[in-house]
Amino acid sequence: MTNETDTPGEIPELEYDLTLFPAPVLRQRALPIESFDDELQHTVEAMYARMYASSGVGLAAPQVGLKQRILVLNAEGERGKGEELAMINPEIVGREGAPSDYDEGCLSFPGIYAQVTRPERCTVKYQDVQGNAHEATFEGFTSRIIQHEYDHLEGVLLVDRMSPADKLRNKSALEDLVARFKRARAAR
Ligand code: CO
Repeated sequence: MTNETDTPGEIPELEYDLTLFPAPVLRQRALPIESFDDELQHTVEAMYARMYASSGVGLAAPQVGLKQRILVLNAEGERGKGEELAMINPEIVGREGAPSDYDEGCLSFPGIYAQVTRPERCTVKYQDVQGNAHEATFEGFTSRIIQHEYDHLEGVLLVDRMSPADKLRNKSALEDLVARFKRARAAR
């Protein structure tokens, strides 16, 4: 016997809001994933949905309020284009190549961009959503996204990587975010 409600895929969809600077969860070290279950699958799907809806190319779990070692990315930033990559429990085991500068943005810092210097390549050990172990080396924009999102899992933020000049340039935008956070907290 079956009925409509038993159909797989009928589980209510998760929806995440973005967690913005300076929410404390962004400063905490995310914890390892131990269960590779349906819940993890749904979390990852909802993270992709949030990333695409926010026109992002990468998203780390703390940015949706989860203290979990999960990151998702798609360098094309568009569903159905480019390659999706979800990394569970990633560990950057090597960074090589000439450092380069790039103006990075971050969904937790809307409207703020800052030049960040990072090595060209990174080698990452990670698990996929099924729990299978992988190790791969990335370069170019994908490498940069991974290094940015990995920072989030360690509680490291764009504001920490900014030059003093960029910090000054973005001073009022950063202060606005802090004020917005305090107002939202006071309203709770
Ligand atoms: Co970010």
